[in-house]
Amino acid sequence: MKNLLKMLDLSSEEIVEILNLADQLKYEQKHGIEHKLLAGKSVGLIFEKASTRTRVSFEVGTYQLGGQPIFLSSKDMQIGRGEPVQDTARVLSRYLDCIMIRTFAQSEVEDLAKYGSIPIINGLTDFCHPCQILADLMTIREFKGKLEGLKMCFIGDGNNMMNSLIVGALKTGMSIAVACPQGYEPHEDVLAFAKEYGDKFQMFRTPKEAVVDADVVITDVWASMGQEGEAEKRKKAFDGYQVNDELMKLAKPDAMIQHCLPAHRGEEITEEVFEAHANEIFEEAENRLHAQKAVMVKCINNA
Ligand code: CP
Ligand code: NVA
Repeated sequence: MKNLLKMLDLSSEEIVEILNLADQLKYEQKHGIEHKLLAGKSVGLIFEKASTRTRVSFEVGTYQLGGQPIFLSSKDMQIGRGEPVQDTARVLSRYLDCIMIRTFAQSEVEDLAKYGSIPIINGLTDFCHPCQILADLMTIREFKGKLEGLKMCFIGDGNNMMNSLIVGALKTGMSIAVACPQGYEPHEDVLAFAKEYGDKFQMFRTPKEAVVDADVVITDVWASMGQEGEAEKRKKAFDGYQVNDELMKLAKPDAMIQHCLPAHRGEEITEEVFEAHANEIFEEAENRLHAQKAVMVKCINNA
């Protein structure tokens, strides 16, 4: 594994290897065992969108691994003034050992990997959010002891989170049911992939149908970064797609909740459900750190 561009690129074995390494790194960090696996390496972190978790967990994670993180805001880079990604990739490949990028178009991430010679990690695009999904899978496995055979349910927009969760769940032996309004379905590439898994993937219009007997219920904001102008229209479209107590009664009694954050309480999730599951949600946020350290080690040390 050299890059992490999207979940579709990972094999089931690679996902399990990342999760196992992430568990080990978490254990070591909690027990004060140093792991300077990236000593002398520099990781560039390009952000064309806002971030709290991704930025801080990549910076701290790189430091804990003995490497140097460099925060690169596109606002301050020539890329923000139109320098082509092909040139940025070839220049940065001569200085850095790895690039994490958060941007809009998936094609920009794919182009960085195509023209650059160093590992590229996708820190979120409009299409997918693979680092988040690895942290989610890690957290679910931590709480449930396994992934195989569990049912995941995603309620909401067919966005980067839904796209990546469908792939991540199916590749790790889970089944997944999603509920989204018409016009907000997951990406066609993801639907084509999911088709191969038969009834392990189900798409519904109502959350009540999707959530039945779920082991894990996941949701995300209705308007993602870049869609702020559609917020009001989306609020109407997603009316009835809230994860609340009434809906959770239909899931398994011990169902857990995941939310990538930031959350909009009172929209996609109620305050009550969010706070009742806060330990799972904030463990998920912590696990971004461990999962991404594992991804960096795998990509950089294999490159
Ligand atoms: N979940 C997530 O990616 O958070 P940030 O946008 O804060 O990085
Ligand atoms: N779907 C959200 C996820 C944020 C981590 C967005 O893209 O804004």
